Amino acid sequence: MKMIATARAHPNIAFIKFWGLEDELNRIPANGSLSMNIAPLATTTTVEFDSDLKEDALTLNGVKVTGESLLRAQHFMDRIRRLAGETVYARIHSENNFPMGVGLASSASGFAALALAGTTALGLDLSERALSGLARFGSGSACRSIPGGFVEWLVDPMNGESYAQSMAPPEHWDLADCIVVLSDDHKAVGSEVGMRSAHSSPLQDARVRDADRRLEACRQAILKRDFARLARVTELDSNLMHAVMMTSDPPLYYWHPQSLAVMKAVKAWQGEGLQVTFTLDAGPNVHVITPQENVEEISQCLRRMPGVLDVLIAVPGGPAELVDETGYLRCERYN
Ligand code: DP6
Repeated sequence: MKMIATARAHPNIAFIKFWGLEDELNRIPANGSLSMNIAPLATTTTVEFDSDLKEDALTLNGVKVTGESLLRAQHFMDRIRRLAGETVYARIHSENNFPMGVGLASSASGFAALALAGTTALGLDLSERALSGLARFGSGSACRSIPGGFVEWLVDPMNGESYAQSMAPPEHWDLADCIVVLSDDHKAVGSEVGMRSAHSSPLQDARVRDADRRLEACRQAILKRDFARLARVTELDSNLMHAVMMTSDPPLYYWHPQSLAVMKAVKAWQGEGLQVTFTLDAGPNVHVITPQENVEEISQCLRRMPGVLDVLIAVPGGPAELVDETGYLRCERYN
């Protein structure tokens, strides 16, 4: 048997955010979250097991990965090996088709693609649910990049399991994400470290306690394609998470002055009757969400704003999938 497989997964942008773990060991989040996969942004990863290797080796866009990032991938591979009852190490080649080092997290698409390629290469044929549950151990948000379209990560649905499932396919709603790139710095504090201090904010309890209400509002907004409702709950959720970040010990300020300028521009456009909203992850870049028919107008306005390095356009994306080495979709799983 050839122990090689290639998989592709999209990153995702959360309307209702994950920030803080309830159970760190089992990676159970403090609250459920809801996101949209964003295509054509994608990570394509090939995993090849080879009995000659003494440890897992990883390249990202052709560059050898070492240190903490390599360790994180190796720990995740250990988990896949345990599942398959194998001990063999692997060569992992991962490619992002979006610019690196511009503050766009690739851990969600990266660990989703790694989970699918790694398990397939070892002959495991996991259900979407099991694969999503597995991916969350690489990076929490990676579990939401396994199913397609609009996806909800369920906290603890049964027996301590936690996984994400699709609530609507990508074609359900023609939304676009105009990703406003404001910085090409590497973030000072990554999500994994940052969210460990979430509980130190006096606001985190209130954010988590209110999460079910926001999740329901977001579900309804998506199911009914109610943009105004989506905008209200998305901005509230992003602002709540950043309020927690800013009031944690030590405080985390991910916004740049220009991030706030973009948020204010979005509010002004809303005042003029445009359907547009914003959300920010653990970084300064602003995700400006709007129906696809507005993309031309809004992205042009965004590009003219001072400090804007680039605006990437994304639309709802499908699930993690097996592809051949050239990136073409494979219909069946690898043997
Ligand atoms: C702000 O999933 O990147 O993007 O599990 O430590 O890898 P780790 O964290 P990660 O955190 C995502 C945080 C967020 C919000 C979200 O996507 O829900």
